[in-house]
Order: sequence, then structure tokens, then C-alpha cells
Amino acid sequence: MREYQLSYGTKRHRINIFLRSAIYSCGAQTCLREYLTFLTTSSYLHALTCSSLACSQLAILFSDSCPSLVDTVRFDIITLFPDFFASPLESGLVGRALERGIAETHITNPRDFAYDKHRRVDDEPYGGGVGMLMKPDPLFAAVESLPVLPKRDVILLTPQGEPMHQAMFQQLTTYDQLVLVCGHYEGVDERVRTHLATREVSLGDFVLTCGEIPALALLNGVLRLQPGTVGKPDSIKFESFETALLDYPQYTRPASFRGWDVPPVLTSGNHQAIAQWRRQQQQERTRQRRPDLYQRWQAETAEEEQKR
Ligand SMILES: C[S@@+](CC[C@H](N)C(=O)[O-])C[C@H]1O[C@@H](n2cnc3c(N)ncnc32)[C@H](O)[C@@H]1O
Repeated sequence: MREYQLSYGTKRHRINIFLRSAIYSCGAQTCLREYLTFLTTSSYLHALTCSSLACSQLAILFSDSCPSLVDTVRFDIITLFPDFFASPLESGLVGRALERGIAETHITNPRDFAYDKHRRVDDEPYGGGVGMLMKPDPLFAAVESLPVLPKRDVILLTPQGEPMHQAMFQQLTTYDQLVLVCGHYEGVDERVRTHLATREVSLGDFVLTCGEIPALALLNGVLRLQPGTVGKPDSIKFESFETALLDYPQYTRPASFRGWDVPPVLTSGNHQAIAQWRRQQQQERTRQRRPDLYQRWQAETAEEEQKR
């Protein structure tokens, strides 16, 4: 049994890092070999480790018993339209995760940092052309007003960025702070891209009117992977894109609906046959719908077999 004694209160961030490393060192999606309990005294946190507990349960344990101590990702959203986020950040699993303190969201409006008479955040492009661009000064000032946590990314949402994918979200879960800069109009002054953003991310090969929707998609995808957001860690492990294969088809009651029956194997009670059917369905589905992923899966499987 190990005992950790950490300063409490003034050094909350160290405690967060400690909890994060405890969760990660035990394998994010698997069973914990160690179970952390803690006692708070007036000035110290004692964390004791013993026995086993699933890591998501651990996160829930911390968030329920002591929300201020749970390891959090801080999302800073830089947006001209703060109201846009009200409902999506309160609903469903995201709302619950935020309530539990698994992540924090902070919204900053660049207009509050526009100091000219008309509080302008946009202007015409030099050299002419259609539409308006977001001015650099309010965006820089908005981002520079934020606290800076040790591992942070300033992400510009732009159709010219790297398209979002699951591995990117996995990687972003290791950050302490993600600053999401939402563009509007014809986009943002180029200096925001070159001197403020540390990463550019796209929702896909299409153009929307604003960066708020891609920002929400990213927040949702990253938060979903944080321990404790989704109750059962397996529901994350077995979904599309966690391996190279897409998910298998799923059914629920009634067993027969408008004459469309659930495949009999699923109601057979034969777990081996069900697992085999699901594996086959995954392969077939991926081969038909996403030949690119299927090829990758084949290559990975061949490589693994060679290693054996
Ligand atoms: C109309 S778009 C500007 C598009 C820009 N002129 C271009 O062609 O690259 C306005 C804003 O919406 C956001 N946006 C639009 N489509 C996006 C996408 N596919 N991914 C991420 N952000 C997007 C960006 O923040 C962008 O600054």
C-alpha cells in the first residue's frame, strides 16, 4: 500500500495531475489494480492505494465525493455567440460530466476585448474581396486573458485544418486545457492561424457558417473519452473507430417489429455464436462501407499474426 501526501487547496492542480497519473498508470479503460481512497484534513490530502476498482468508477467516486479534486480538462471556448452553447453543455452525458467536474467549460467572447468605439470584431480583407474577417486583436486578447495550464492546445476550428478523427480525440484527452477558437464570416485573420493557434482542426470537407458546431463536436468527442463520462468503459472500447472496424448491427426489443425480426443468433443465448456473428458483421460492414478502413484492418491483422 502506498500513501501519498499532497498539499491541498493552494496546489489543487498538483492533486489533479496526481489523480490523472493514477488513473492513467492503471490503464485508462481497464480495471484498476489500485483503489484510491483519500481523506482530507485541513491542509492535506492523503491518498491511499489498495485493491481494485474500474477506472471509470474511480472517476465517479472522486467526482461524486469531492468534485473539486477530480482530474479535469478545461475547455475554453472563444466565441462571439456564447448562448449557442447553453443547451448542448447542459444536456445528456455532457451535462452530467460537467456537473460532476470531469471537465470545465469557460466561454470567452472576443467582443469583450474589442476596445474601439463600436466594439468591432470584424473588418474588410486587405486587397479586397467578399465578406468580412475576424480581426486578430480581440481574438489574441481573449485567448491571452485565459489562465495557461501546463499542457494546452489552442485549436482553431477551420475547414482547412486536420479532419477530426478518433485517434486525435484520444490524444487530446491527455491535455489539461483545450482552447477552441470559433471563426465566423469569411474566417479569421491569418495571424490568428500562424501566431495564436497551435493546431487547426476541421469537422470535414465542407464549409459551415461558424466554428461553434465543430467546437462542440470536438468537445463532445474528447469529453466522451474522459474516465467517468460514459458509465461503462466497455461501451467506448467496442465502438466504431476504436479498432479499425466499424461497430456491428445492434437490436433491442421488440424481437419482431413490423415483420422485421432480430437475427435469431442474438436471442439464442449462445455467447460464443453471438461474438462470432458480431465479428463477421463488423468485417463485412467495414468491407462494404469503408474499404479504406478494411484494408487498414487487414494490414494490422496480418502484422499481428506475423509477430506471433
Ligand atoms: C464560412 S467559414 C470560412 C471559410 C473560409 N473562408 C475557408 O474557405 O476556409 C467561417 C468559419 O466557420 C468555421 N468552419 C466552417 N466550416 C468548418 C469546418 N468544416 N470545420 C471547422 N470549422 C469550420 C471556421 O471557424 C471558419 O472560420
